[in-house]
Amino acid sequence: MDGNKVGAYKDESGRYHLVHPTCTHMGCDVEWNDAERTWDCPCHASRFSYKGDVLEGPAVKPLKPAKDSDRK
Ligand code: FES
Repeated sequence: MDGNKVGAYKDESGRYHLVHPTCTHMGCDVEWNDAERTWDCPCHASRFSYKGDVLEGPAVKPLKPAKDSDRK
């Protein structure tokens, strides 16, 4: 989105959930896990919900939300 990477998940009702796809542990790019509908970090295995909430550490902070209104 405007030169920034954004992770997007569209739920059953058609609503988009946008996150900044940078792991809050040490900054790796998270990857979408289609089977689990989670954002998984390949570096140290943190997992986040599609909304960005931490499901498994070592990360303790959620992914930052990205909003369409973040566009400048
Ligand atoms: S950088 Fe993502 S778990 Fe460590």
